[in-house]
Amino acid sequence: MSKKIIIGNWKMNPTSIKEAEKLFGGIAKSISKVNKNTIVICPPFIYLEKLKKLSKKIFLGAQDSFYGESGAFTGEVSGEMLSNLGIKYVILGHSERRALGENNDLINKKIKGIISAGLIPILCIGELERDDNHEYFNFVRNQLLECLNGIPKNLLYKIIIAYEPVWAISTTLNRRDATPLDSREMTIFIRKIISDKLGIKMKSPKIIYGGSVNSKDALGFLEHGGVDGLLVGKASLDVKKFTDIIKTCEVLNK
Ligand code: PGA
Repeated sequence: MSKKIIIGNWKMNPTSIKEAEKLFGGIAKSISKVNKNTIVICPPFIYLEKLKKLSKKIFLGAQDSFYGESGAFTGEVSGEMLSNLGIKYVILGHSERRALGENNDLINKKIKGIISAGLIPILCIGELERDDNHEYFNFVRNQLLECLNGIPKNLLYKIIIAYEPVWAISTTLNRRDATPLDSREMTIFIRKIISDKLGIKMKSPKIIYGGSVNSKDALGFLEHGGVDGLLVGKASLDVKKFTDIIKTCEVLNK
């Protein structure tokens, strides 16, 4: 089985660099003997530089980035800046940013900017709800096609697609658990769109799953959910919970 990627999305946590170092250091220590899969942690921007120095084993990612290289864009951080800091991954189009107003068009520009800065975009897509008429498939197709619009075919494989059904994310009100089967049907659909519409036959982008992943269901998603990795939110803020997920997934490579 090929190497999996497990990504922790800390969101706007923790509230001090001290706590960030403690959490990151705890994770690094606990997985020092674990070395099969790729581990990425995406903390808030301001912690990236310090955390970068704490582990050679854990890759760092940002939770967003702007599309330009530099210039008059107050408050933004560019892919170029992240790249100069040694950051490798950037989450783009997370549902929490979409809820603040980001649309597919802006996310598309950001993906292009991130690719040209030499970084790997983690594009989040996923429906808000599932309806009986299966309209959610169209919703996800639109997100995918609009976000990937105009990206040269030979660069598409660089993108990691994170399927995150918003109804399964831990902070969603009245959330429900998604199953590996829910993930599997959507990843088949996503792979079909990519191969039909985008004409990719050989090197296709990695697809990962996110939405309340924990140590009990992580392996199930990797084995039966049709995905190459996991995007973990809440559980990545707890050393034991996150490293249990990582350790559970080690068995896949034995
Ligand atoms: P969760 O978050 O694991 O807390 O559901 C996942 C995400 O929003 O990326």
